[in-house]
Amino acid sequence: MTEFEQRRSSFFSKMANNSLAIFPAGQEKIRSKDTEYPFRQNSDFYYLTGFNEPDAYLLIVNKEGKQQTLLFNRKKDKTAEIWNGKRLGQSGAVSKFGVDLAYDVAEFETQLQELIVDCSVLYYPVFSAPELERCLNVAVNKLRADRSRGQVAPAQFIDTQMILHEMRLIKSEYEIELMAEAAEISAAGHIRAMQVCHPGMWEYQLAAEIHYEFAQQGAPNVAYNSIVAGSHNACILHYTENNQQLHKGDLVLIDAGAEYKGYAGDITRTFPVNGVFSDHQAQLYQLVLDIQVSAISQVKPGVALADINKSAIKKLVEGLLEFGILEGDSEQLIKDQAYKAFYMHGIGHYLGLDVHDVGLYGTAEDPRLLEAGMVITIEPGLYISEDADVDDVWKGIGIRIEDDVLVTKNGAEVLSADVPKSINEIEALMANA
Ligand code: GLY
Ligand code: MN
Ligand code: MN
Repeated sequence: MTEFEQRRSSFFSKMANNSLAIFPAGQEKIRSKDTEYPFRQNSDFYYLTGFNEPDAYLLIVNKEGKQQTLLFNRKKDKTAEIWNGKRLGQSGAVSKFGVDLAYDVAEFETQLQELIVDCSVLYYPVFSAPELERCLNVAVNKLRADRSRGQVAPAQFIDTQMILHEMRLIKSEYEIELMAEAAEISAAGHIRAMQVCHPGMWEYQLAAEIHYEFAQQGAPNVAYNSIVAGSHNACILHYTENNQQLHKGDLVLIDAGAEYKGYAGDITRTFPVNGVFSDHQAQLYQLVLDIQVSAISQVKPGVALADINKSAIKKLVEGLLEFGILEGDSEQLIKDQAYKAFYMHGIGHYLGLDVHDVGLYGTAEDPRLLEAGMVITIEPGLYISEDADVDDVWKGIGIRIEDDVLVTKNGAEVLSADVPKSINEIEALMANA
């Protein structure tokens, strides 16, 4: 069995008797007139199939405890394939993806009513797939109305995402290999950026260097829009305009990750445009780095990300007090969340097929504990905006340091360790480039 077949079987094992699960593929989206955005498959669909075409539905059927897997996908079409690219078609889907049966997706809506007859439970991504929901609405209500044939409509509806996202949260050995590769390629892009960066360059030129390296290493797509933020642009957390010039004396924050075989890298580094940190930049940078290294050292099964964040906040507030950026009592400042003016996001998130990957985090009172096989980011930051009420020397400095971390049985492994992050290592890499 392939890994994808194992995942389908694993989902099947969690299904009720006489039930049906439906997983929609992604759809192409118009960018303008007759050009589309680059297609990206729905992550849940991809996780269960590895199939990368739009307009498809995967169905897992449980009929009296027996599993059957169906795929509705685009049928082969000579003209469409000449204009827009190859399609696998139905026979290809059966032989390549190991489904039991495949049908033309154009028949999906009309077949749906037959498919759900006598299914007591229907699994689908609730509130997440409007077109599927529309088809289901029609099919279920037709069945409810048509009692003459003695058939029953599904009476219970369960969100596939609740089950699937728990599966996706714990990575298999195979997924960990792919994620290590995604992190390594992402790291290579960051190293290249440090090597080529110089004053006068534009942010988009630095982005192009990173994307070039990703592609050279076999990852032509990014996992999310790259952030290349010189100077105070770094204080805009999701800055993606990338259209300003980089100046001597400024820092540049790069948050960029390659997507490798569907899996995201997510790395941030902050470094001086001219290769040398100023004293004030170095002071703040070292504080963030110490917090990041300490946070990574706390990662292990049984620990909550929320608690790692608490310890990061404590260190940050102590550092800001030392620099006179905050004033007052450390405990009170934490209570008042005074640090939020300078650190307004979380310490990290799950990483996988999605950059902000799926899986529950628990609640503030009852946070979820880390488990072996999770991959997370650790990414403390410090952002002193230009209008902050602090000494001018700190203004406009934005710093984030982000690594991708696998939770192992006994601790953690940093998948993105290839990119330097100590001041000395960064300065040496840039000086030697
Ligand atoms: N790149 C988005 C994030 O770091 O969460
Ligand atoms: Mn991140
Ligand atoms: Mn990031």
